[in-house]
Amino acid sequence: MDPVGFVPTMGYLHEGHLSLVRKARRDCDSVVVSIFVNPTQFAHNEDINTYPQDIARDLEILETQDVDFVWIPKAGDMYPPGFQSWVSVDELTLPLEGIFRPEHFRGVTTVVAKLFNCVRPNYAYFGQKDYQQAVVIQRMVIDLNFPIEVVVCPIIREEDGLAMSSRNVYLKPEQRKAATVLNRSLVKASQVFEFGERDADTLRTVVKETILEEPLAQLQYISCANLETLEELDGMVERCVLLIAVLFGKTRLIDNVLIGD
Ligand code: PAJ
Repeated sequence: MDPVGFVPTMGYLHEGHLSLVRKARRDCDSVVVSIFVNPTQFAHNEDINTYPQDIARDLEILETQDVDFVWIPKAGDMYPPGFQSWVSVDELTLPLEGIFRPEHFRGVTTVVAKLFNCVRPNYAYFGQKDYQQAVVIQRMVIDLNFPIEVVVCPIIREEDGLAMSSRNVYLKPEQRKAATVLNRSLVKASQVFEFGERDADTLRTVVKETILEEPLAQLQYISCANLETLEELDGMVERCVLLIAVLFGKTRLIDNVLIGD
């Protein structure tokens, strides 16, 4: 069999996306990339109308990556008139992002299922940057018998540690500087763990106190969660994921780190 690798994206590509493309290129005979700013995963008050887009630039970048097929569906192809069928994952979508973006994951799982059905890849590549999304997609693939292996790739960061994201372009210069606090807070907690700290609440507090030191950062959530179930942990932990969401003005950034894994 000649494996097909698939990298679904919303475009405005950066090195984070390209790391998935490169991994797919290494693993597979054919590589398919989709670019689709999926309307159903944005709430009415969210940024779909201002979501950064530059298809010409994306195509130019992909030209350098030896991609076999770039698919840019139209909204009408993905959501034909009368559309009313949805894919949703229950418990995993309730905490974290699910609290602040209640409709978000239903849109993600629906569009990814549709993209999977059209592309029919053997491997699909997602970033750890969107940790909850990756866990939710893995669940969906198992539950709905998609014959696809989900590959989760590490977070790619700017030199100063900020996780790459299409949304980073919204940050004003002073917010951009302040945004390094996300990674800094997570690194600090990892170090505390390395030095022997195992209490979940202490790890959360280390992250929280670091973020509170940054006046431009407004913390939305900090979680020390089970890697598979995303359940909040208490007491002693040997493995966990620390996840955070922080607002800088209207720009919402997320980040995470695996601990003890
Ligand atoms: P988008 O935000 O464009 O991200 C596409 C893929 O790139 C996701 O799997 C995401 O986790 C990964 N990614 C983004 N930034 C990354 C970084 N800094 N390092 C590593 N990987 C990174 O996520 C979506 O689009 C959409 O929800 C989608 C899955 C395409 C469904 O519409």
